[in-house]
Amino acid sequence: MRREQEQQLIGESPGFLEVLEHVSRVAPLNRPVLVIGERGTGKELIAARIHYLSDRWGNPFVKMNCAALAESLLETELFGHEAGSFTGANKRRLGRFELANQGSLFLDELANTSARVQEKILRVIEYGELERVGGNETITTDVRIIGATHEDLPTLASEGRFRPDLLDRLAFDVITLPALRDRPEDILQLAEHFAVKMSGELGLELFSGFTDRAKKMLREFSWPGNVRELKNVVERAVYSCADPAEGIDHIVFDPFESPWRPGGSAAEEEKPRAHFDQPYEFKNHIRDYEIQLISDALATCKHNQKKTAKFLGMTYHQLRGYLRKYELTEGED
Ligand SMILES: Nc1ncnc2c1ncn2[C@@H]1O[C@H](COP(=O)(O)OP(=O)(O)OP(=O)(O)O)[C@@H](O)[C@H]1O
Ligand SMILES: [Mg+2]
Repeated sequence: MRREQEQQLIGESPGFLEVLEHVSRVAPLNRPVLVIGERGTGKELIAARIHYLSDRWGNPFVKMNCAALAESLLETELFGHEAGSFTGANKRRLGRFELANQGSLFLDELANTSARVQEKILRVIEYGELERVGGNETITTDVRIIGATHEDLPTLASEGRFRPDLLDRLAFDVITLPALRDRPEDILQLAEHFAVKMSGELGLELFSGFTDRAKKMLREFSWPGNVRELKNVVERAVYSCADPAEGIDHIVFDPFESPWRPGGSAAEEEKPRAHFDQPYEFKNHIRDYEIQLISDALATCKHNQKKTAKFLGMTYHQLRGYLRKYELTEGED
């Protein structure tokens, strides 16, 4: 079985379930489809799902990252070349459009293609025809295109950076993946999934879960790198957990965080991340952040308030002031 077929798609948030439903609807149609979403939201997994749910599932699922190559190389990769078409081309080579015949071609980072490549792609979509680089023979191929990008293609088209006619054809149906911060219900489920897998890889007997504090941190983080970032953070947390039987309590979001970091301290770099897509109260935000910092410092210093004050670079009296202000004195005599 192919790796992509085995890959489970985790998530039960309404936004994600809607995407899966959309995928099932569009998969059997023999039309191009676009998968749009921020980095790391799972576009490639969704593209694979579309292929394996389509009638083409038994035929090749070929991928091409269009951002990885310069224009002329991308052109030969996609459309192939004839022997002698350029220095070093001593054999005919089939391009991905031919290799994907009867199957699907995943064009990742589609926004990065040049006008020339876009024109050739349009021709394959319209007529199923192409010529290899350096060749005159017209080849026919039957390929379903699944394009992906994290960019806004209509904007690129209006700026003249993407062919509007190609966009029209590709955009037969558009699946837009929600960012992870917009489906917070999926965060812990994904985290558990990646943690269990990582524990298995490390040969640990079992995964004993996240502490409430760790869960809270995972839930409240804004995940600018989406599922990929979550996977990395969780795998690192499992790997660096001192006592796996105790459960994971420590989450490092930024592995570069260090007082010795060149070019500025981690504390300066790591500002609290806020979403500005919704109105929010500045004061509440600051309060939550202060509470978070103080609670974390207390936990790190095992609730020794003198140590905590020192750790936070404030006096004991200042710390006491904050504890009273935020009613964090619970449990004290
Ligand atoms: N719903 C999900 N369930 C399980 N794993 C997921 C899910 N979504 C994403 N992943 C995992 O997250 C990582 C990133 O996913 P993927 O490569 O599909 O994202 P992408 O949107 O193509 O990112 P990029 O824009 O950077 O190419 C992969 O390791 C993938 O397996
Ligand atoms: Mg991708």
